[in-house]
Amino acid sequence: MQTKIIAHRGASKYAPENTMDAFKIAYEMGAEGIETDVQLTKDHVPVLIHDENVKRTTNGTGLVNNYTFTEIKQLDAGAWFNQSFAGNTILSLEEFLQWFVHKPLYLNIELKNNKIEYKNLESIVYEMLEHFQLLNRSTISTFNPNSIKRMRRYRKHVEVAFLTSRRNRNLAQLTKDLGGNALHVKYRLLHANLVEQCHQKNMPIRVYTINKTVRMFNCYKYGCDGIFTDVPDKALHVRNLYTN
Ligand code: G3P
Ligand code: CA
Repeated sequence: MQTKIIAHRGASKYAPENTMDAFKIAYEMGAEGIETDVQLTKDHVPVLIHDENVKRTTNGTGLVNNYTFTEIKQLDAGAWFNQSFAGNTILSLEEFLQWFVHKPLYLNIELKNNKIEYKNLESIVYEMLEHFQLLNRSTISTFNPNSIKRMRRYRKHVEVAFLTSRRNRNLAQLTKDLGGNALHVKYRLLHANLVEQCHQKNMPIRVYTINKTVRMFNCYKYGCDGIFTDVPDKALHVRNLYTN
């Protein structure tokens, strides 16, 4: 199976991360999947933003969970990247899925609950995916092992990926023991044996964040199931070179 090219926070090299523009550009470039990050507002609305604090990627300040959805929607999430993207706003997961559901893409939603343990984030996201009938082409991932354990009850219906940048002698087995059925790892953890161990357990392995040509080649060579990249156009080009 070909390594899937997944746009990391959308085509985040070319547009402000996790915005509608970044997702649309990724799709137009030919990305086969989209990765995005979810946090919860004060009124429990799942929104797409990487950091717990809005400061880096908007014109606001303070924690996401100190804003109501109406308040957070007033922020500009594009101008920090380039003035031409001004007017982009933080998307709710629902707004994003209304666009995504009509596209033939794979989806990875990362729960950003490793710093703040948002209550019920797992069930809020799961139920939203169920509502849009997207469970069979989605993965929910998190760095938080306790959150993986809480999602055990969902793993028959949706793929649950353990995300990690930490070395461990048997990451594939650890993922299984936690209750996950996919592994997402930082590039420095990648080696041929790990891919083999995952595949022996029938477990997809995907790698982040792959923007360099040599790293792309290695991921393709090892047979990784997916790469997360800020440059989906480049990843497609390199994959064409690799396969031809
Ligand atoms: O899901 C892969 C990757 O996005 C995890 O790291 O910091 O980019 O969310 P980060
Ligand atoms: Ca992420």
